[in-house]
Amino acid sequence: PSYTDVEGKKLCNYQGCWYYYKNLQAVLDYQKNFKPLDTDIIVTSYPKSGTTWLKALTVALLQRSEDGLQNHPLTSDSPHGLVPFLEMKLYLKSSTPDLTNLSSSPRLFSTHMPLHTLREPLKDSPCKIVYVCRNVKDVIVSLWHFRSRIENKEAERSKLESIVESFCKGVNNYGPFWDNVLSYWKGSLEDPDHVLFMRYEDLKEEPYDQVIRLAEFLGCPFTQEEIHSGSVEKILDLCSLDNLRNLDINKSGIAWNKLHHSIFFRKGEVDDWKNHLTTEMADKIDMIIHEKFQGSGLRI
Ligand code: A3P
Repeated sequence: PSYTDVEGKKLCNYQGCWYYYKNLQAVLDYQKNFKPLDTDIIVTSYPKSGTTWLKALTVALLQRSEDGLQNHPLTSDSPHGLVPFLEMKLYLKSSTPDLTNLSSSPRLFSTHMPLHTLREPLKDSPCKIVYVCRNVKDVIVSLWHFRSRIENKEAERSKLESIVESFCKGVNNYGPFWDNVLSYWKGSLEDPDHVLFMRYEDLKEEPYDQVIRLAEFLGCPFTQEEIHSGSVEKILDLCSLDNLRNLDINKSGIAWNKLHHSIFFRKGEVDDWKNHLTTEMADKIDMIIHEKFQGSGLRI
C-alpha cells in the first residue's frame, strides 16, 4: 500500500481506498480469514451516511415478532453493538475473531470498505449486502460535527475547510467518496438480488416504502396482516432518531469503540449543509461529484 499524512493521521491506500493504518491491518485480516455463511447480511456505507439508522432498521426487521417490539434487542443494546463493524471492531480486536456467539441470527455485520474489497472473501456467497448512500455535502457536515463531538469541542470552521479539501482530493478515510459509492451502485445494478442500494434522502422522504423494500430484499417481507396491524410504523418508530438517541441502553451506554451511544445522533436532516458550507465549497464539491458520477446513471 502507499501512505500519506492527512490532518495529522497516517492513511494507507489499499485496493484504491484510503484507510487509517490500524484499520488496514483489520481489512487484510478480514480478507484472509472471514468465512461467510449463506445467510449473512452486511450493512455498508460511507461513514456518516446513515449507517446507525440502517443497522437499526435491519435488526428491527429481522427480529420482529408477533408480540410486537417489546423486549426487542434494540431496547437494550445499540445498533453498533448488534451489528458489529468488521474492520473497526471484530478484526481490529483479533485477526481471527470468534464469530460463533454473535447476538444476532442471521449473522449481521457492517463495514465501510468498498464493495470489491468486501467481496474478496465472499466469493460466490449468496449473502446479502445493503448500502446506504447520502448527499456528500451532508456527509461532510455530519463528519465535521462528529469529529468535534469526539473531541468534546465546538465545531471549528478551519476543520470544516480541511475536511472539504480532503474530500475533494479523495484522500480521506475510506475515500475517495465517489469510488466507495460507485462500487456499490455498480454492484447493485449487476447483482440486484445480493446488493441493495439505498439513499438516506429516500429513507427520510418515504420511510414506509423504503422499509418495505428493505424487508423484501432481506427475504422477510411484511404479510398483509402485519401491514394492517401497523407493523411497519412500529418499526419506523422504534428506529426513529429520537427513540434511538434516548434508548436506555443498559450496561454502559457505550456504542462502539468507547464512543457514547448518543454521539451517533445529531439532527438527521436533509440539506443541513446549507447552514454550514459556503457557496464556493458547495460548487466545488458539486463539480467534482458531477464529473465522477457522470455516465453512471446514479441520481444525485
Ligand atoms: P447528522 O450529523 O446530519 O445529523 P452514521 O450513522 O453513518 O454515523 O451517520 C450519522 C448521521 O445519521 C447523523 O447525521 C445522524 O444524526 C443521522 N442519524 C442517525 N440515526 C438516525 C435516524 N434514526 N434517522 C435519521 N437520521 C439518523
